[in-house]
Amino acid sequence: MIYAANFKMNHTRASTARYIETLEKRLCEAQWEERVLLFPPATALQASSGHITVGAQNAYMAQKGAYTGEIGLQQLEEFGIETILIGHSERRQLLAEEQEFVSRKFAWYKEADFTIVYCIGEPIEVRESGEEAVAEYLWEQFDGIDIDYEKLIVAYEPIWAIGTGRSATVEEIRATHDELRRRISAPLLYGGSVKRENIASISAIENVDGVLVGSASLDAEEFFAMMIEGR
Ligand code: PGA
Repeated sequence: MIYAANFKMNHTRASTARYIETLEKRLCEAQWEERVLLFPPATALQASSGHITVGAQNAYMAQKGAYTGEIGLQQLEEFGIETILIGHSERRQLLAEEQEFVSRKFAWYKEADFTIVYCIGEPIEVRESGEEAVAEYLWEQFDGIDIDYEKLIVAYEPIWAIGTGRSATVEEIRATHDELRRRISAPLLYGGSVKRENIASISAIENVDGVLVGSASLDAEEFFAMMIEGR
């Protein structure tokens, strides 16, 4: 299993450092062997150490340059960051990142040899139209994406399940991950209201190789307790 924590716009540089210290201590005690990824805000990026790989929630597709408000490869390299989230629905929706833009960013960070956690997910109206509509919608989010990239991790995150407390059901996750597995051999994460109460049933699904967790990852002890449940 892969356990990924997406802080979104939560935590500061100082609290992220405390979080890493707490979580790392627990992982050491547990002799943890599975992969742990942490995506703090850009101001809290720091070198990975121990069990935890730190990645960027976003970055622009350039080494450096005139891109006001963005960070690029130069800023990531300062901390040895080699992992990035691309295609999160909050960026697609709130920041208007379209598929063409997302796929260019993917190609650029692939060229830079990054591990890419590539997020896809359907809105509620598509889910309500049935499994076939969901599959069609999700495959469109792979337009321009190299699904055979060896450092690809896919995160399926239904938009209606993100931050709502309402996770997809085990059956919905199973069906969708089975569909994705038809063409994708990369690890498949599920995200969307994963928490301590549901992680065991989600991680037990055959084609679920990990979880991407927002709200329930914000407290280090809580996240660790959840990881133990998911094992
Ligand atoms: P959530 O967020 O766990 O708060 O639903 C997941 C995500 O958006 O990555």
